[in-house]
Amino acid sequence: HLGSKAAAAGYRLAAFDSVGSTNAEALSRARGGEAGPIWFVTTEQTAGRGRRQRAWVAPRGNLASSVLEVMRVPPGTAATLGFAAGLALETALQQVSLEARARSGTDFGFRLKWPNDVLAAGKKLAGILLEAENVGGRLAVVVGIGTNVIAAPTETPYPAVSLHDLGISVSAEDLFAALSDSWTELRGIWDDGRGFPEIRRRWLERAAGLGEPVSIRSGDGALEGVFDSIDDTGCLIVRTTDGRRVPVSAGDVYFKGV
Ligand code: BTN
Repeated sequence: HLGSKAAAAGYRLAAFDSVGSTNAEALSRARGGEAGPIWFVTTEQTAGRGRRQRAWVAPRGNLASSVLEVMRVPPGTAATLGFAAGLALETALQQVSLEARARSGTDFGFRLKWPNDVLAAGKKLAGILLEAENVGGRLAVVVGIGTNVIAAPTETPYPAVSLHDLGISVSAEDLFAALSDSWTELRGIWDDGRGFPEIRRRWLERAAGLGEPVSIRSGDGALEGVFDSIDDTGCLIVRTTDGRRVPVSAGDVYFKGV
């Protein structure tokens, strides 16, 4: 079920017992004229998609959710919406983990990792995949959020963790209700891109590795430097040893010594 703020703001819900990919489902509905905003949700994906053409493998019980927003903005502006999604998930995670935090006395160390992963204690807890397509002169933007609720995938190139591993027992349904509400709020602040400076400010407060040495790997090789900031298009700014500030639009970030 949707959160009450999301429902009041006019979001609709398409829930599936099992589906190939909620992102693919959202895009195909957009091509068919669906104008959104609408959430596509399941706890079983059979062909989940990840960033950079990777598969997103998740055991049944994890949360796969995609929101479709159709708007008139340039594609570059829509890319910054992924930061609102990371913040929305972090906000929802803080809410659903309140009780576990009080019981265990631990802060779970939720952090946002560029471009839009969510980490807990340095391990990947959630991934976000943004896809956009021009449909009849408007841009159909799909923001897909996959969260490890009951189990983390095992064969990943990075360490992964689930809410269950952390001792946070929340159902995918309750997490989704919190997420759809926090999304509604942050999507409102983002406001067709005009509110990105505020989203970026909040995002940077929760960023992993800001000011620290990083290595960025992409198809073109590796870039080494210090994670300096994020620019107003969402690019990661890396400060290299020769003092250049290089904008990076795509790639995987590795923190040194991790
Ligand atoms: C990544 O970290 O590579 C991004 C993973 C994104 C996974 C989510 S699950 C819901 C939505 N549907 C998909 O097929 N992918 C995204």
